[in-house]
Amino acid sequence: MSFALERRLALDHHPRMDHFQYRGGVLHCEELALPELAQRFGTPLYVYSRQTLIDHYRRLSEAWTPVAPWLCFSVKSCSNLHILRIMRECGAAFDVVSGGEMARALEAGADPSRIVFAGVGKSDAEIRDALGAGIGFFNVESEAEMDNLASIAESMGRRAPAALRVNPDVDPKTHVYTTTGKRETKFGVDLERARRVFHDFARRPGLDLCAIHLHIGSPVNTVEPYIQSITKGLGLIEQLRREGFALRAINIGGGYGANYEDHQAPSALDYAAQVVPLLKGADLTVMLEPGRMITANAGILLTRTLYTKQSGDKHFLIVDGSMTELIRPALYGSFHFVWPVQPAGGAVPPQRSASLKMEGGMLVDVVGPVCESSDFLAKERWLPPVIRGDLLCIFTTGAYGFVMASQYNSRPRPAEVLVEGDQVRVIRRRETYDDLVALERAAG
Ligand code: LLP
Repeated sequence: MSFALERRLALDHHPRMDHFQYRGGVLHCEELALPELAQRFGTPLYVYSRQTLIDHYRRLSEAWTPVAPWLCFSVKSCSNLHILRIMRECGAAFDVVSGGEMARALEAGADPSRIVFAGVGKSDAEIRDALGAGIGFFNVESEAEMDNLASIAESMGRRAPAALRVNPDVDPKTHVYTTTGKRETKFGVDLERARRVFHDFARRPGLDLCAIHLHIGSPVNTVEPYIQSITKGLGLIEQLRREGFALRAINIGGGYGANYEDHQAPSALDYAAQVVPLLKGADLTVMLEPGRMITANAGILLTRTLYTKQSGDKHFLIVDGSMTELIRPALYGSFHFVWPVQPAGGAVPPQRSASLKMEGGMLVDVVGPVCESSDFLAKERWLPPVIRGDLLCIFTTGAYGFVMASQYNSRPRPAEVLVEGDQVRVIRRRETYDDLVALERAAG
């Protein structure tokens, strides 16, 4: 691809969302037809597109170039080692929230000094390990944690680089379960208390308290809440500087939206265009923690129709995927666009939209085999006629998909495969019944 074209792609406000496209009436991932992948690897199956990951990372990195930020890939959104390695090759830093995520990032070859460690409840063991590994920043959520971090660092003869998570009391206008920047949530400390924390702790020998961290929620599909929170954060930094504290960095968190529907979320450029001017010239290292913006559209869940069923007026498609593979619809009522992989009559979707209607189509709920009424993947959708055996694609499931999968109902977790052009490889094999009981057998 020429540099000019790549640049145009990167700077487009409505960039192509992914490399899952219909060709000749069949859905492809990059160069590969999805029915062949289903045949080869079975269903349910997570399929990731390497090029989509890279495109989204590049768009972010280009859009934010003027402040040369650390782009800390949010490991929680999609933590497969092979995905983390791609992120590392792209140049990402990493945002982790547990010892387990840190171990994954390190195994994927992350530079520890470019890992930030967040989370309201870090254990002593996690703190010690992270200090031992030499991670870049602790995002600290409370005075009690700050005190503990300082004590552990002092006992190890270390100085912990720390950012104080500040709760700016801004409404991100997203689901209540993923809202974090409002005063009443458990995250961070309020602005007034934040000043006191600097006064109380900045001189502790075990701490290099030199940054603030803001994260207001996820997904945040407008730019305004970021402007509000960053403006408040910069105000605090200015005040702290006046009071003699050396502030070197600001972490503005993650939560940038992805297109679950066409044009639903601002592009990387839309966010950056409004936020960069606030940060430029602030003499601060800027950090971001994007997850879903990179990974959501880079993965899909492929599932096969087991049965069709009518009950009362309702039509159901009972598929082999369920809330154990993808819990977002059950947990948050999240929308994921669903469409047959090889639609009858070649009816490829004109757009990915929640309000798509279809003449000659059927109005269905797409549900799984799990024994819970909350086990649905989609409700009241117009689809082309689907029969037993047909494959469906659940789009935009690369973020918070596999990572939230469970074995409930003793369902082995699905395989994950990664497509690169016309090549595909398994990046996590399907679990077996033996896997389900291995740790119990080991217990004797
Ligand atoms: N930074 C912090 C401090 C976070 O808490 C999160 C997400 C992120 C970054 C990354 O957010 P992202 O850019 O990926 O939106 N399970 C929910 C999302 C929970 C998000 C938790 N924190 C979902 O499926 O929508």
